[in-house]
Amino acid sequence: MASSFSVPFPDQRPARLALGLILALGLAACGGGGGAGSSPRSDASASELSAAAQLGERIFRDTSLSASGRQACISCHDPATGHASPFDTPTAPGGPAMADQGNRNPPSIRYLRFNTAFHFESDGTPAGGFFWDGRAASLREQARMPFLNPVEMANPDIAAVVAKLAAAPYAAEFRQVFGDAIFSTPEDAFDRMAFALERYQLEDPEFAPFSSKYDAFVAGRATLTAQELNGLALFNRGDKGNCAACHSSTKPANAPGALFTDFTYDNLGVPRNMAIAANADPAFFDGGLCGATRTDLSARTDLCGAFKVPSLRNVALRKHFFHNSAFGSLEDVIRFYVRRDTDPQLWYATDILGNPVPYDDLPDTLRGNVNITEVPYNRRPGDTPALDDAEIADLAAFLRTLSDGYTP
Ligand code: HEC
Ligand code: HEC
Repeated sequence: MASSFSVPFPDQRPARLALGLILALGLAACGGGGGAGSSPRSDASASELSAAAQLGERIFRDTSLSASGRQACISCHDPATGHASPFDTPTAPGGPAMADQGNRNPPSIRYLRFNTAFHFESDGTPAGGFFWDGRAASLREQARMPFLNPVEMANPDIAAVVAKLAAAPYAAEFRQVFGDAIFSTPEDAFDRMAFALERYQLEDPEFAPFSSKYDAFVAGRATLTAQELNGLALFNRGDKGNCAACHSSTKPANAPGALFTDFTYDNLGVPRNMAIAANADPAFFDGGLCGATRTDLSARTDLCGAFKVPSLRNVALRKHFFHNSAFGSLEDVIRFYVRRDTDPQLWYATDILGNPVPYDDLPDTLRGNVNITEVPYNRRPGDTPALDDAEIADLAAFLRTLSDGYTP
């Protein structure tokens, strides 16, 4: 059957599944959330940031560094939405006149300090990397790109960015930190800019506060409601939500709490979103790992349609979900997970005979890549979904405990 040759990583998930079963008990014992990194923003002052990180914060907020003069990193990664997109539209406006748009949903950029460069694990699983397709190896490499992306900050070249930086109100501080002559070598100045943005994201506790109700619960400082507790159990149970198989709810060794992602990739068969302008062209497909935005994996057609597993921390603050913003509510996302294959007509456009075309955001020759073996999307038309409506509501209630800034 299709799954035997097409599922990108068939061998490793059972181990995660077993892990999921013990989580509800195991977590409380882990003591996650008590580490030094868990102090919320209110405990930290800007003076704890290195000089480079403080410059990074100013750059992050500086709209004068864009061609339009109206856009900065913070425009698309807003603290109010967990540093994800604040826009009502599925993608962000951008470009020299703010009249262009990209193809992807601006993700949350919190908790990425625990991510690594893109690599294949020993069993062949793709993991790590920045962007939905992992093409940037580090936050530093990533930070260069928005300045030059024609549908984002849209500067024509590095020299143009550095000329704006040299005229910024903090240019003197930049010279103090990186050397008096720094602006005379634009490539070096641009590299220090990206470095400063990386330091800001790595150092400022705002990017990894671990301050959700769930963290307080794990630390024994808050109780979850019966509904939230049931949602947590469903999240972890390998025969129900099985969410923790990819959105891991155990604390990894390198972080003070669970990250709700394992930074791997999967192909969920998310429906095509016709609200994305590029999708008006029926020949356009966003290939994810194998796609045009990264060129090194174009031969790996088995990876087409795979996107990075995002952290579910602060997910309830987002307005759109998945790489193409196909959904606008958490309940709809969860309903999609459990009814994708039991009721495909709910999600996919129909052909001329009126039959739904599953996985319609992939070319038909690559639809076998979609993961159809793992709970909860291991069902067939007519099967009972893994979660009923009450359980979907409970799971969504649990996801709402993952928003940072909880005060009892
Ligand atoms: C016009 C909106 C926009 C602007 C401005 C913008 N970004 Fe983004 N950002 C996005 C989108 C869209 C993606 C996902 C793109 C992709 O995956 O191909 C993204 C992805 C990222 C990621 C990777 C997240 C992950 O999960 O790996 C980081 C980090 C990031 N942006 C930081 C920044 C920084 C730093 C700046 C300023 C230099 C910035 N962004 C400016 C829209 C924007
Ligand atoms: C086999 C791995 C896997 C499992 C199991 C899984 N997810 Fe996901 N999840 C992903 C991937 C991959 C994405 C991104 C897919 C994309 O955008 O194309 C994602 C995205 C999401 C998003 C959108 C987040 C955002 O920022 O856009 C939500 C919400 C979500 N998952 C919730 C859940 C819930 C709830 C469950 C359990 C019912 C679950 N997931 C089970 C892999 C998984």
